[in-house]
Amino acid sequence: MKKVAIVTGASSGLGRQFVLQIAKSHGFLDEIWVVARRADRLLELGVLVSNIVIRPIPLDLSKKDSIVRIRSILAKEKPKVYVLVNCSGLGLAGLFDRQDEELLDQMLKVNCLALTRVTRAVLPYMPKKSRIVQVASSAAFAPQPGFAVYAATKSYVLNYSLALRQELKKRRIYVTTVCPGPVNTEFFDTAYQKKEMKLYKKLVMAKPERVVKKALKDVKKGRAVSVYGILMKAVRVLCKLLPSSLIVRLIH
Ligand SMILES: NC(=O)c1ccc[n+]([C@@H]2O[C@H](COP(=O)([O-])OP(=O)(O)OC[C@H]3O[C@@H](n4cnc5c(N)ncnc54)[C@H](OP(=O)(O)O)[C@@H]3O)[C@@H](O)[C@H]2O)c1
Repeated sequence: MKKVAIVTGASSGLGRQFVLQIAKSHGFLDEIWVVARRADRLLELGVLVSNIVIRPIPLDLSKKDSIVRIRSILAKEKPKVYVLVNCSGLGLAGLFDRQDEELLDQMLKVNCLALTRVTRAVLPYMPKKSRIVQVASSAAFAPQPGFAVYAATKSYVLNYSLALRQELKKRRIYVTTVCPGPVNTEFFDTAYQKKEMKLYKKLVMAKPERVVKKALKDVKKGRAVSVYGILMKAVRVLCKLLPSSLIVRLIH
């Protein structure tokens, strides 16, 4: 039985980093299955990783057929999936009533529905001591005017994954939710098409390499949540202490 890791959103940013760093730290794997729409970017990973076979699975996760395809590959190959990283996602900033409906749908489907469906499809193939890494965001910590639907999708990911973690403890499968603040990736090309990014976000922008390094350390330790950087840790604590009614006024 092949030992594999599966990484969605592998074509850029954090997902790409997860693939590169997992290849270094998980030398026992036979293959890393990489999922995203841009096939050329996925193929490129095969050139960068030499110790493990990179298997590109180009799919649009907003489409239901894509999950059917993942299920059928899994059923055919019956691999042991030691690591699943759900990293595909997109954001959209701006006032809700002015946002593009098509993009909003896409965001809900990829950030919530696809993440849930991929997790469910892969779970039967995960052995004891395997890891699920769910990429949420620090936006999950509180409601965010100007980023309302995105922040809500990430709250979904965080809460769903914390509960799933508890359910899976008996099977000794460990779930870590990664909640980064702003990270320097292509994310902002989609998220801020029509809106200027707030200055503080530009100032605290982290490098994807560092966020993923910290995330994989936390995954190894079996932590529930991974937050990179002292500032984002402080934001998390503040969001726990302050009432949401005050937070939304401070953000807006
Ligand atoms: N950058 C940040 O500041 C930040 C902060 C907190 C959390 N996050 C989260 O981190 C995750 C990765 O984002 P990133 O920052 O690395 O941004 P990114 O560079 O834009 O990467 C997003 C990834 O998601 C994939 N994706 C988007 N739509 C997809 C679809 N319909 N089907 C399959 N794959 C799709 C993209 O691949 P294709 O375009 O090739 O399909 C790409 O690989 C996201 O969940 C994001 O919400 C980002």
